[in-house]
Amino acid sequence: MTARLIDGKAFAAALRDRVATAAAAFTQAAGRQPGLAVVLVGEDPASSVYVRSKGKATLAAGMASFEHRLPADTTQETLVALVDRLNADPAVDGILVQLPLPRHIDERAVIARVDPDKDVDGFHPLNAGRLATGLDALVPCTPLGCLMLLRDVHPHLAGLEAVVIGRSNIVGKPMAALLLQESCTVTTVHSRTRDVMAHVRMADIVVAAVGIPGFVQPEWIKPGATVIDVGINRVEGGLVGDVDPRVAEVAGAITPVPGGVGPMTIAVLLRNTVVAASRRAG
Ligand code: GUN
Repeated sequence: MTARLIDGKAFAAALRDRVATAAAAFTQAAGRQPGLAVVLVGEDPASSVYVRSKGKATLAAGMASFEHRLPADTTQETLVALVDRLNADPAVDGILVQLPLPRHIDERAVIARVDPDKDVDGFHPLNAGRLATGLDALVPCTPLGCLMLLRDVHPHLAGLEAVVIGRSNIVGKPMAALLLQESCTVTTVHSRTRDVMAHVRMADIVVAAVGIPGFVQPEWIKPGATVIDVGINRVEGGLVGDVDPRVAEVAGAITPVPGGVGPMTIAVLLRNTVVAASRRAG
């Protein structure tokens, strides 16, 4: 058996179209476009590429893009002052501070400074708490994109066994919270888990977000399971996921890398920006 490939690229393109329609309706009603501000500190090449694609996608969806590129030696005070300005700017509905930040900057303090109603990354502790307690929240883009793909494969997620590999604040933790909200039975495995395979073997759904190339092995996978590969690892010869490609011979459905989860992240970011704009206007 070979797994069905989940076409994240096509799904993301359809989502971007729906977002563009919603953005046009907002513009018509509010007399201004939804606006997304993206802040990049330093010149990390990968981050630079992401920020450029976010700006392009924002404009393509009919929204206003505000890009702030600051030098690597920017102080905490300068960065916080910029966040304060963006919080107060009525033309800005969404604020994204690209991570990772340079080491001398207190990342948590910066994240906590963003107005929770403009926190389109969903990283603010208030949004994390809202998600964990089932309140209306802005939800981190990558896990929400994974959930959208999973809902497409499994219209009924309730009761399914889900294993999330990785416990980061950006993907693993919010992914587990989302799957729990969908009434899955959720297990998070991580670097200190004693027997990762024993857990993964039982899963109907596996979400891999560890950042280790080819980590998930075919013999771990229950035949027919759905596998979501969040990994984008740069290796010699290109980009590879966290899932060994041979997993496709066992799984029922799988996201490719590239073209799976990756394109969903920006599409959901645009969606979160329109949601934030509508909530702020309403
Ligand atoms: N760095 C890697 N992924 C992300 C993300 O989703 N948001 C931000 N702000 N930075 C990132």
